[in-house]
Amino acid sequence: MDFSYPKARPEVERLKAYSAPLEGRRGLLRLDFNENTIGPSPKVIEAIGAIPPDHFAIYPEYDGLREAVIANLALPLAPAQIGLFNGVDAAIHAIFHAYGDRGETLLTTSPTFGYYAPCAQMQGMVIEAIPYVLPDFAFPLEEVSAALVQKPRLLLICNPNNPTGTRLAPEAIVELAAAAPQTLVVIDELYEAFSGDSVLPLADFAATPNLVVLRSLAKTAGLAGLRMGFAIGAAPVIDRISRVTGPYDINSVAVTAAHAALADQAYTDAYVAEVQRARSWLVEQLAAAGVRHHCAGGNYLLIWPERPVSEVDAELRAAGILVRSMAGKPLIDGSLRVSIGTTEQMQQFWVAYSAL
Ligand SMILES: Cc1ncc(COP(=O)(O)O)c(C=O)c1O
Repeated sequence: MDFSYPKARPEVERLKAYSAPLEGRRGLLRLDFNENTIGPSPKVIEAIGAIPPDHFAIYPEYDGLREAVIANLALPLAPAQIGLFNGVDAAIHAIFHAYGDRGETLLTTSPTFGYYAPCAQMQGMVIEAIPYVLPDFAFPLEEVSAALVQKPRLLLICNPNNPTGTRLAPEAIVELAAAAPQTLVVIDELYEAFSGDSVLPLADFAATPNLVVLRSLAKTAGLAGLRMGFAIGAAPVIDRISRVTGPYDINSVAVTAAHAALADQAYTDAYVAEVQRARSWLVEQLAAAGVRHHCAGGNYLLIWPERPVSEVDAELRAAGILVRSMAGKPLIDGSLRVSIGTTEQMQQFWVAYSAL
């Protein structure tokens, strides 16, 4: 650029933003972002269609939504313990904004979801990322426990982990949080429905007010495009995280959709069950064909093709199927992450993959 422009904060000037390919995905079989592959409940579509015109003209209203989340979770929580965010991404951003100061440490694992690191970097935080343990990408529990002694500001655990699927027992999470009261322990449970490992039923936010759990309607209920995420924890912590967001960051269409989705848990449960069936089916095919793979929690698995991953990625795209290359990611370089949809969709994937 040949003119001078106002420089941002040094951390922002240095920042390598989290970027995902966000164009040209329509009409293809999208197995690249772990999205719901069939769309939300018909009741969500119906509710959106029934929005009266004046609702588009007024600022969104959030009353009743926290209560609906609690009813959906069927847990003894108070509305002030539920934070509403424009997707879990926005919740993660807000957590860093509210809690992460320059020079403080984010403790996390590696490889994991790609948005934690840029959020830490934009705050000027130091990142300590502990690798999963080979050969099965086990959770590095001893190393994480040992690192907590240094009192990092934040511990972020994705459970099950994206992209390795690694699962950490809820009991171990409660112990970590109890042992580290000066660290905000954030558990990203975006994919919890596919493994059933939630820490929420065990969590006592009065005893461990430093524990925060993240949930989203993106991947299970099929609302990724509408953006709706929740942070669940002790009321004062949820209050601090919510302070750094704008007053109307969640739009009213997303609010209507969320009410309808939360009220139709049977639809989401049926989708999750289908994904689990499809995951087992694909694992059987991979095992029978001798394809190196790794499948643990989540609606995704890793495959190591024998040919360069970029070629396989491109050829699958040409066949109308999107997957995510893990090139350059520690421990899993050379693999592809394949999201799991319905059995029929996985059959389509397997036919194309086998023909490469
Ligand atoms: C682990 C993890 N956390 C958070 C997100 C973002 O969730 P949302 O769509 O609710 O912002 C993703 C999306 O891929 C994810 O994989």
